[in-house]
Amino acid sequence: MIRINENFLKLKESYLFSTIQKKVDEYKMKNSNANLIKMGIGDVTRPIPKTVREAMKKAVDEMGDRATFRGYGPEQGYEFLREKIVEKEYKGLGIEADEIFISDGAKCDTGNIVELFDTHAKVAITDPVYPVYLDSNIMYGRTGKFDETTGRYENILYMEAKEENNFEPSPQELKEVPDLIYICSPNNPTGMAMHKNCLEQWVNYAKEQHSIILFDAAYEAFIEEENIPHSIYEIEGAKEVAIEFKSYSKTAGFTGIRCAYTVIPKEIIVKMENKEILLNKLWNRRQCTKFNGVSYVTQRGAEAIYSEEGEKEIQENIRYYKENAKIIRDGLAKAGIMAYGGINAPYVWLKIPNKMSSWEYFEVLLDKYNIIGTPGVGFGPGGEGFIRLTAFGDREKTKEAMERLA
Ligand SMILES: Cc1ncc(COP(=O)(O)O)c(C=O)c1O
Repeated sequence: MIRINENFLKLKESYLFSTIQKKVDEYKMKNSNANLIKMGIGDVTRPIPKTVREAMKKAVDEMGDRATFRGYGPEQGYEFLREKIVEKEYKGLGIEADEIFISDGAKCDTGNIVELFDTHAKVAITDPVYPVYLDSNIMYGRTGKFDETTGRYENILYMEAKEENNFEPSPQELKEVPDLIYICSPNNPTGMAMHKNCLEQWVNYAKEQHSIILFDAAYEAFIEEENIPHSIYEIEGAKEVAIEFKSYSKTAGFTGIRCAYTVIPKEIIVKMENKEILLNKLWNRRQCTKFNGVSYVTQRGAEAIYSEEGEKEIQENIRYYKENAKIIRDGLAKAGIMAYGGINAPYVWLKIPNKMSSWEYFEVLLDKYNIIGTPGVGFGPGGEGFIRLTAFGDREKTKEAMERLA
């Protein structure tokens, strides 16, 4: 008789966004005229830039012509896009086109990468965390039971991202040596980013301990401060120990179009018994078996982001969101509310005053100010006492939300 993969039963139901929606719906039923401002969503709102649209339209026309029609593309992505990424994103960092794997999202890649490693591999994640890192390892069977009192899983190493360590946990804080280390910088949900010296410590640690770093740089385009690395490969030695994930979702508004990429340098070699295994080859094998590539039209759209005009349009979108983030930070400061992030990321991590819980403060924001945020505890117990606000909304609404709070 068929049995299911019981690891799935260890997953906590993802109540976060459904609970938020339920509470909002209830509120709307009682207050039909309320002018609610959504600051909880992580989705973008600015439309696709013209240059990208034009490139995609042209690619659609090519598909309609027998002479230029294309069927299955390379599983790793078209050469034109991989070469462009090398030139524009990794100039001087020694990354080659066959180390880039184009995909339909950093969510899938950060979730699927778990397959490359042993079931017993020890995983370190931050608390709070982007939930995909944790859940994909639970599904894969790397965790024990969930502990209701701590809100944590057995066999996972939690690295606390809190005010005391400037939301940048360092290797010295680890109680055990992990095999896989997830680092998300700029960070979702805290909106903070890892400084170069801290990332250097992680790279050195991974080299010493033969661990692998899974570096999620989905929000890299939002970095504005000097000593925040845009890529982990800016750190010496990182090419031997780090996989990097990037996405066009938040940069170019591709959340609905879907295009991202993963970098796996050929220098990452895992030594096992008397074998030496290249992770690049392993991932290539995995992708060729389970993935049939991103559509030609999408990849032409992604390529257009790197054109002169495309770059200008993208920068304008990012500036828009960053200005929203500034409005949020300034607005909160004016209202006397402590907050972190929002400088190198589109997220602001609001510290709840008066020792209220995340959910209690969520209700206050909703009832009193008609603002919808995301309770920090939804990203792990370490997020208790915080609310995540996003800068992806409309300018006027963002301003209005801050005026209400002030
Ligand atoms: C940290 C982080 N990584 C990856 C993703 C997913 O990116 P994509 O849209 O490319 O799947 C998100 C989306 O919210 C994210 O916050």
